[in-house]
Amino acid sequence: MIDLSVHIGSLALQNPVMTASGTFGYADEFKEICDLNDIGAIITKTVTPHPRPGNPPRRIVELPYGMLNSIGLPNVGVESFIIEKMPFLQTLKTNVIINVAGTDEEGFVFCVQRLEDVSGIAGYELNFSCPNVKGGTSFSSDPGIAERVTRNVRKTTRRPIIAKLTPNVTSISEIGRACENGGADAVSAINTVVGMAIDIKTRRPRLSTGTGGYSGPAIKPIALAKVFELSRCLSIPVIAIGGIACAEDAIEFLIAGATAFQVGTVNFYEPDATMTIKKGLEYYCQKNNIQKIADLIGSIQLKEMAK
Ligand code: SIN
Repeated sequence: MIDLSVHIGSLALQNPVMTASGTFGYADEFKEICDLNDIGAIITKTVTPHPRPGNPPRRIVELPYGMLNSIGLPNVGVESFIIEKMPFLQTLKTNVIINVAGTDEEGFVFCVQRLEDVSGIAGYELNFSCPNVKGGTSFSSDPGIAERVTRNVRKTTRRPIIAKLTPNVTSISEIGRACENGGADAVSAINTVVGMAIDIKTRRPRLSTGTGGYSGPAIKPIALAKVFELSRCLSIPVIAIGGIACAEDAIEFLIAGATAFQVGTVNFYEPDATMTIKKGLEYYCQKNNIQKIADLIGSIQLKEMAK
């Protein structure tokens, strides 16, 4: 038996496979396809203080190596989330992490406060990085704001907090350090890369909001570089996100320094990807005589690196 377990602060994961927010609904949509309790942690679609309809269509554009989205955080709001979505999530034996966001700094605290008495929640992911709503990336573009919001949430809960970061900044490590100083247990990186597509017949942007967030295989090298950077400068775990579509992708991130990883866009075209990736991790470990996946974390060999 290979030991696939990893730790994110006080959170014990049976394996490092997590689902990325917004790509796995509220998990019940996947219950016929995946053994949900076999996934290390399930992260829900973002929940906000009040219901949101999301952005007008068109909200998704498929591109050759990825997907451009401008969904706009549609959700039923935290009150209805507790009534409508939590009962199913509470039946799961694996870790359920609620991704929360606010339109202002107080919104994050509001959501977490409201969820504190609800059982079956293993932790929170703070969505500091949605590029599709006004000010959505501001929480992880300014280190002062990132630290303040994290600290205010930290005062509200003892549950683990993960700060989800945008790559659309000059220095992601500066923002990561701010979250660590504010009391985050981990950071997750990267959220989508700002991108655009134009219809050359109408000469109009293909997304209703003009720009959106680019995800999928195309962003994997960008994500890998950011995860590598973060893991070298932070003391808290880094959770990788960005174009992970197979076990080999995930292994690269673990070697670069990620403690766990989130499976995102691939869920849309290969809905059992979390299962395939977990099996692939086991196979890789068996083949390479690795007893504990944790031994892979940060095992990158840098001796001949030129810079
Ligand atoms: C969205 O709902 O617009 C996507 C969420 C995100 O990028 O954080």
